[in-house]
Amino acid sequence: MDQSTSAPNLRPDILAHYELGQEADRLSRRTGTGRLEFLRTKDLLSRTLPTPPALVLDVGGGSGVYAAWLAQQGYRVELVDPVPLHVEQAGRQPGVSARLGDARDLHDAADASVDVVLLLGPLYHLQEREERLAALGEARRVTRPGGIVVAATINRFSALHDSLAKGVYYTPERRVVIDAGTENGRHIPRPEGSDFTTAFFHAPEQIAEEFTEAGLGPSRQYGIEGAAWLMPNTATDLDDPERTEVLLAALRRTESVPSLLGASSHLLTVAERG
Ligand SMILES: C[S@@+](CC[C@H](N)C(=O)[O-])C[C@H]1O[C@@H](n2cnc3c(N)ncnc32)[C@H](O)[C@@H]1O
Repeated sequence: MDQSTSAPNLRPDILAHYELGQEADRLSRRTGTGRLEFLRTKDLLSRTLPTPPALVLDVGGGSGVYAAWLAQQGYRVELVDPVPLHVEQAGRQPGVSARLGDARDLHDAADASVDVVLLLGPLYHLQEREERLAALGEARRVTRPGGIVVAATINRFSALHDSLAKGVYYTPERRVVIDAGTENGRHIPRPEGSDFTTAFFHAPEQIAEEFTEAGLGPSRQYGIEGAAWLMPNTATDLDDPERTEVLLAALRRTESVPSLLGASSHLLTVAERG
């Protein structure tokens, strides 16, 4: 593991959330929507990335779940994350080199030095537009011309839909937090609550505009989970290989239908670096 000594400027509550260590198995738990997110993101990446052994910089790569999978596919993978626990966990994955760093300032990566930048998480936590543009600008800078920038965002109405599906929207204290987040995208959790951590929820057109502003246009957009993450049977359907294939095929067919993009929990935005 290669750890930079510079401490990234991460909000203490975001650091505390990730220090709970929930990322390592979030995408493989049988309950919840992480398994669908993981299957679909891998499916989309498989159809989007250049072939191995392209060099992938996984910015905000967490504990290295995607990085490990990419390394198994033959990609060369470097991971950057501001949470020391994540860097330690990711650095243990075969074929993954991990270091501390921040999406807004990838100072130890040279211009045009990688084939792919993944931002599968940092934009969830940057509430200011200038910070998000800085992260996208850095992704553009370090990607070679013709390379690919891929960013995941949390959709603006995900928390509303999730809380309705789970019934917690009917709790007034939760509803206040959720309604505020749907207004302007800024999710500000109650200090004593269990409302995720400080986050930003994008409208699909907003992240497309930010890509363009950062010099990453035109972009393509894909709903990662579509509306299937809200269906009560999806988690158990994923235990059945035949149903899983049918579900994945349906989501592939509908992944870029404009009227469905915002129904997904997460959105993937992809652009070629010009
Ligand atoms: C929800 S996790 C996603 C982890 C992994 N990419 C995945 O998709 O499973 C969000 C990640 O973004 C990282 N992160 C938060 N703020 C960041 C920043 N300013 N720069 C880079 N990464 C950041 C967190 O440490 C965390 O690992």
